[in-house]
Amino acid sequence: MESFIKIAYFLTIILFIFGLKRMSSPATARSGIVWAGVAMLVAVMATFFWPGLQNIALILVATITGGAAAWVSGKKVEMTDMPQMVAIYNGMGGGSAAGIAAVELLRGDIHSSGILTLSVVGGLIGALAFSGSMVAFAKLQGIIGGRPITFPKQQLINVILFVLAVISGIGLVVGDGGATMITIFFLLVLAFGIGVTLPIGGADMPVVISLFNALTGMAVGFEGFAMDNAAMIVAGTVVGAAGTLLTQMMAKAMNRSITQVLFGAFGQEEEGGAADGIEGSLKPIEGDDAAIMMGYASKIIIVSGYGMAVAQAQHKVREMADLLQEKGVEVKYAIHPVAGRMPGHMNVLLAEAGVPYEQLFDLEEINAEFSTADVALVIGANDVVNPRAKTERSSPIYGMPVLDVENAKNVLVIKRGKGTGFAGIENELFYRDQTRMLYGDAQAVVSDLIQQIKQI
Ligand code: TAP
Repeated sequence: MESFIKIAYFLTIILFIFGLKRMSSPATARSGIVWAGVAMLVAVMATFFWPGLQNIALILVATITGGAAAWVSGKKVEMTDMPQMVAIYNGMGGGSAAGIAAVELLRGDIHSSGILTLSVVGGLIGALAFSGSMVAFAKLQGIIGGRPITFPKQQLINVILFVLAVISGIGLVVGDGGATMITIFFLLVLAFGIGVTLPIGGADMPVVISLFNALTGMAVGFEGFAMDNAAMIVAGTVVGAAGTLLTQMMAKAMNRSITQVLFGAFGQEEEGGAADGIEGSLKPIEGDDAAIMMGYASKIIIVSGYGMAVAQAQHKVREMADLLQEKGVEVKYAIHPVAGRMPGHMNVLLAEAGVPYEQLFDLEEINAEFSTADVALVIGANDVVNPRAKTERSSPIYGMPVLDVENAKNVLVIKRGKGTGFAGIENELFYRDQTRMLYGDAQAVVSDLIQQIKQI
């Protein structure tokens, strides 16, 4: 039976890696998710055949309850709420690893100090990822404010919590352990996870969630070693490596170092109105005039953002782009790496609407082209096109690479009103001479533009 389980785990490992490979391209990502899901199913099924497995009824109840909750919430969740969902699911992974660690530590007397060390390290990382992810979820869901929550001596308290957690962890390896000591260890780590996440602002949350995701992977990997479970080791390592890479890429896209994210209390300095010093006014334009501007353009670059996702306007955007292309207009899409609310958000939406991948261009590829565009059409994007990120040192997004939309001859901005973006700051682009505002819900405005362009 053990050989059967080992073969099943080996299959799981291959499927995980195969699935991850397919996730690297938007064209194959969906099937990558399916293969990784099949891998997880194989691993779970194989585990039921583990010799001497007890409490099968309880395991079944937990698996069915968890699976049903995940299925229903996965079906219902809006794309824009995906970061919170990732946070909560990821936190569950960290919590599970911590749970495994707690059980192994309780059985401490049968383990070597090596295994106990692995359990403690995995438990520490897992519990940290759990409580930190729960705070991240609560912030993004609006249960607690998204702004940094700070108080005097906060960093010092965090350091003390961490040091005490490490000391109690060492105590668990070298001492007798016991339920009380294990409880103290986990309470300290959980408090540290909360303490370290509270001062982080909402705008940094995606990076933090990705970091916790990497930590969860590492925790699972450590517990895999502790339990001698190859599938857990490989799955944990793969998640840890992918999460670390994603964290680095996102931090780079937002121009934040991981240290700044963790200890920078992002967003504090924006209090007091970052609009100060912006000159000019917001100049509205009617749909028919905007349609003429676009219909007679040679080249248009479309920049989509969070607002397009909220309005679910991607299908209309594609329809409009097709129409313009039929009229001989060159249309390209500029993709900012953190446009929207999750990595790849715009790629996913535009791909869903059938926009060919060849028309999507990353920030580095497209930025030089804005100066050759007759029109840059900004649809529900704000922070990612804010020129102040390049010039205003006091801005919370200072240093974040942005799309150079202001270099286009004309800029059209679709948004509902004067709402700010995620960072909560004014956008200088909207006040520039060549910018015109098309107010309204992105889907309604683009639908109207389609009708107007048809009449040209
Ligand atoms: P944002 O800066 O958030 O701006 C979105 C804009 O869309 C708002 O100004 C809003 O203005 C408009 N809008 C909202 N609903 C709309 C609708 N139904 N129709 C038309 N417009 C609508 O978006 P962005 O430019 O995509 O930037 C993303 C921001 O989120 C960055 O600050 C980034 O750091 C942060 N962030 C990114 C991620 C990832 S990984 N992508 C995750 C979390 C946070 P009105 O209210 O006036 O309509």
